[in-house]
Amino acid sequence: MKQVKLKDKEFGVSIPSEKIQEAITKMAEKINKDYAGHDVPLFISILNGSFMFTADLFKQIDFTCEVTFLKLTSYKGTASTGAVRQLIGVNESIEGRDVIVLEDIVDTGITLEQILGQLKSFEPASVKVASLLFKPEAYQKDLNIDYIGMEIPNDFIVGYGLDYDGLGRNLADIYTLIS
Ligand code: IMP
Ligand code: MG
Repeated sequence: MKQVKLKDKEFGVSIPSEKIQEAITKMAEKINKDYAGHDVPLFISILNGSFMFTADLFKQIDFTCEVTFLKLTSYKGTASTGAVRQLIGVNESIEGRDVIVLEDIVDTGITLEQILGQLKSFEPASVKVASLLFKPEAYQKDLNIDYIGMEIPNDFIVGYGLDYDGLGRNLADIYTLIS
């Protein structure tokens, strides 16, 4: 198994890049179908983790659209702190728009709840959520996630934009914590 060491921890490949790309292509096909004919939907990508997913998905979107970026953080090391801070706001007009939130992963759902709560006050026409990864065992909310690339076990992962204390985002595959 391909392994990588980041700081004090060992990780082994769990989702090869071809599988990630397959999941993204399927998701893009669904989104293209659902939003065909809609008036310039706005994708809101949640930084930092979602940058690779956003880039790969966005290239496969075939309707006229915009993308913008929001920066939040709730993780320290390998555990969610539960406290979500919004660091960079959205400047684009959201009122009356169809909004698609792009997340790398939904874990407890605390981040997503915070984002959706904040978005509502801008009165979008609709809000859907697309997450590349979802940890059903860790999920504490019952917010609807409209597009899910893959469901994964409740293990800590890195790669493809996801990090361990800032490291590992550059890996093309996704790796799971071994020790
Ligand atoms: P939540 O608020 O617990 O749902 O966590 C969401 C955010 O935590 C994600 O957008 C990621 O940035 C980060 N996160 C959750 N699980 C992992 C993981 O396994 N590895 C790295 N980051 C993660
Ligand atoms: Mg994230």
